Amino acid sequence: MRFTVRAPASSANLGPGFDAIGLALDLWNELGVETARRRDRKTASGEEHEDGIVVAPVRGRDAHLLEGRENLALKAMRTLAEAHGRELPPCTLTPCNGVPVARGLGSSAAALVAGLVAANRLLDLNRSTTDLYRHAWEMEGHGDNVGAACYGGAVLAVPGVRDAVCLCPGDAFPLVAVVFIPEATGATWAARAALPQDVPYADAVHNLAAASGLVAGLLTRDPELIGASMRDRLHEPYRARLFPHLEPMVEAALHAGASGACLSGAGPTILALTPPGVTAAVARALADVARQLAVTGEVTTLATVSRGAYIVEDPDQSEPTTTAESLIVGRTKG
Ligand code: HSE
Repeated sequence: MRFTVRAPASSANLGPGFDAIGLALDLWNELGVETARRRDRKTASGEEHEDGIVVAPVRGRDAHLLEGRENLALKAMRTLAEAHGRELPPCTLTPCNGVPVARGLGSSAAALVAGLVAANRLLDLNRSTTDLYRHAWEMEGHGDNVGAACYGGAVLAVPGVRDAVCLCPGDAFPLVAVVFIPEATGATWAARAALPQDVPYADAVHNLAAASGLVAGLLTRDPELIGASMRDRLHEPYRARLFPHLEPMVEAALHAGASGACLSGAGPTILALTPPGVTAAVARALADVARQLAVTGEVTTLATVSRGAYIVEDPDQSEPTTTAESLIVGRTKG
């Protein structure tokens, strides 16, 4: 058996939808899977585990950041197998990443979801996307990124509700994502540790209205309502201390014509949702602030995608590649 799983990047929160709203973006992680006969295993290059699974060295974006770290796709595969009282067959996994690591673009969610989809196929479990989403939520701890990685588009993850709610398919999304991806990584645990135990009542009330506006804007494909609803008061003010580029970039993006802007997930990436006619101006504005603050990174325009993780049956068949165009700030493109 031989196939490849593709899982998309995602931006969580969109401002006030903390841990609840996710948007799938056109950058992909790939996980090649090939079952092996026992005698073939030694010939595959990579790290061999006791259960006969070989993980080839990660290729692609930020591969060096994952060296020596636990492979999350394999962890998810084992979790799903164990949940069904099964063992994974000996196989070789070949990860190739397009999603930047530790930047707030859902790389761990993409890896987890790819692993779940792979194990579902390998073991012929026939689990629905809803079931895989529930497993992914449990592993990740919140449903925003994993919901987007499972389903594509903009989704809402509601605690206690079995399935993610589709708010807007990627191809109906009325705005374009312009992102500033810093070269320096962030850590989700640190960005969560920066949050206070309690928040002012007025801020909770503000977020209630803003998140409701965001949901309504996404459901009705109303770009102005989406943008106007992206102001958060529950996590961004605290995380701004970790990411000094956050507030100036949000202001600059809005001034250049973005409908709304926010921290992408737990950061440090900045997401500006932008009408198609002004993406270049918004990209320039983000790059200008990066230069002024001497924050190195890249500005990229990304399409939203309607498709969540999926299987490519014939890995030799070429898949559409991301059409992102990048503007590098302060370093050479690597
Ligand atoms: N909703 C999460 C957060 C996304 O902002 O911490 C990061 O995993």
